[in-house]
Amino acid sequence: MDDKFKKVVSHAKEYGFIFPSSEIYDGLSAVYDYGQNGVELKNNIKKYWWASLVQMNHNIVGLDSAIFMHPLTWKASGHVDAFNDPLIDNKDSKKRYRADVLIEEYCQKIESKINKEIAKAKKRFGDDFDENQFITTNDRIVAYKEKIESITSRMSKALEEDDLKSLKKLIEDLEIVDPISGSKNWTDVKQFNLMFSTKVGSTAQSSSDLYLRPETAQGIFVNFLNVQKSARMKIPFGIAQIGKAFRNEIIARQFIFRMREFEQMEMQFFVRPGTQQEWYEKWKENRMNWHMSLGLGKENYRFHDHIKLAHYADAACDIEYNFPFGFKELEGIHSRTDYDLSQHEKHSGKKLQYFDSELNKSYIPYVVETSIGLDRMFLAVLSNSLVEEELDNNSSRIVLKIPSVLAPYKAAILPLVKKDGLSEIATDLYNKLKTEFNIIYDEKDAVGRRYRRQDAIGTPLCITIDHQTLENNTVTIRNRDTMEQKRISTDSVSKEIIKEVNLKNWLV
Ligand code: GAP
Repeated sequence: MDDKFKKVVSHAKEYGFIFPSSEIYDGLSAVYDYGQNGVELKNNIKKYWWASLVQMNHNIVGLDSAIFMHPLTWKASGHVDAFNDPLIDNKDSKKRYRADVLIEEYCQKIESKINKEIAKAKKRFGDDFDENQFITTNDRIVAYKEKIESITSRMSKALEEDDLKSLKKLIEDLEIVDPISGSKNWTDVKQFNLMFSTKVGSTAQSSSDLYLRPETAQGIFVNFLNVQKSARMKIPFGIAQIGKAFRNEIIARQFIFRMREFEQMEMQFFVRPGTQQEWYEKWKENRMNWHMSLGLGKENYRFHDHIKLAHYADAACDIEYNFPFGFKELEGIHSRTDYDLSQHEKHSGKKLQYFDSELNKSYIPYVVETSIGLDRMFLAVLSNSLVEEELDNNSSRIVLKIPSVLAPYKAAILPLVKKDGLSEIATDLYNKLKTEFNIIYDEKDAVGRRYRRQDAIGTPLCITIDHQTLENNTVTIRNRDTMEQKRISTDSVSKEIIKEVNLKNWLV
């Protein structure tokens, strides 16, 4: 983990955002708990997503379907047969790896050799350095690039053809060693299904296999007609859902980026066949605008269009975010055709068709899906917001510049001292505001330390009640990011907070 990422992880724990699950038992790999501030931030991300889709679109409604679903759901969706990763074990270390990840990491090592060569050349040639020319003409770099290309194409071919022998052969040819034991003593590559299974029922005879859902989307598909009919929805329309998903990831790492239990925010948009490309483009734009509205930096996002498409998709892309460990998938946008609904129709024997009164015919709608990992969004916000600032007086502060609309607490109410009746006025103000906003009251320690505490958890405003409050009913209001303070009337505190956090000022 690089330095910045380590700081994010330790800040998350120290300030009650994220704890390792069951930590007193040494934790459970790739499972995390959200602490007192984490749960607030997470809820606010959910609300922000929900408001932008369900609240602000008359043709999108919500759903909360169960985690357990009829086992045939997963047969129909293809997860039972095809939701696999290729795994390989090292016989000496007994450690398990994803075969494709071992190969990708091998390529990354070559990539970093290329970067080193470039850095060296930059130093040598100074201002005259033409990076593009160097990359295309330097013998060593050209050879490195060819090697990466040849490895990647062998790997893609093996994965596409489900040719596990060739995958193993590639690992052997590249002489990839186990990062722990350094040994090349590998087992064969096997397919590993990522779904967790469990049993329902009290006796061995009556029990049947169930899966913990690996995506929330299927709950939307199987309820498509229930929602459409009960809400009298007309195509095009969407169904949105936020909920837990479970995947038995072979290697789960990078903190909350890849977990075994995580949350997704998914929306399936049902459209007329033939219009899916247009809607796919609209949703790409719409979702990128949502990300931009939070102001985490345009340069930190990019689209990654899928060249190789899943069998059910006719277009797909990821929105990637620049995490502390590089650009990685944050959200997926997929044009899933009528694949899922057709599959459910076939396996359930129930018609899942929509009667289009304008066309006077029934059809299975096409679907454009937007699917974002809530935990990944959380990590994007947290890592983007954590800043260490040098101050004028030779000191420094740690501040979480979280978009105010997502901040766990919108304001802190701080009496300058506990005596002289200041606590009582502060408590009154707190009681007045608490029904409107999530705010926090703090009277412990010197006010400077309390400001630092609020900075560290991202509270955008600090309201201080001091002796002047007794005289003229004014308070100071301090801005987290600029640290500027101004005096305002106590009666206008609510208005100032609204200005900062009102959805109107964020979602346009
Ligand atoms: N219904 C489509 C679907 O599930 P996906 O690309 O597999 O597509 C969608 O997952 C999003 O869920 C990803 O973009 C990512 O943000 C999040 N996600 C997937 N696996 C995850 C994991 N193991 N831990 C955390 N988030 C994950």
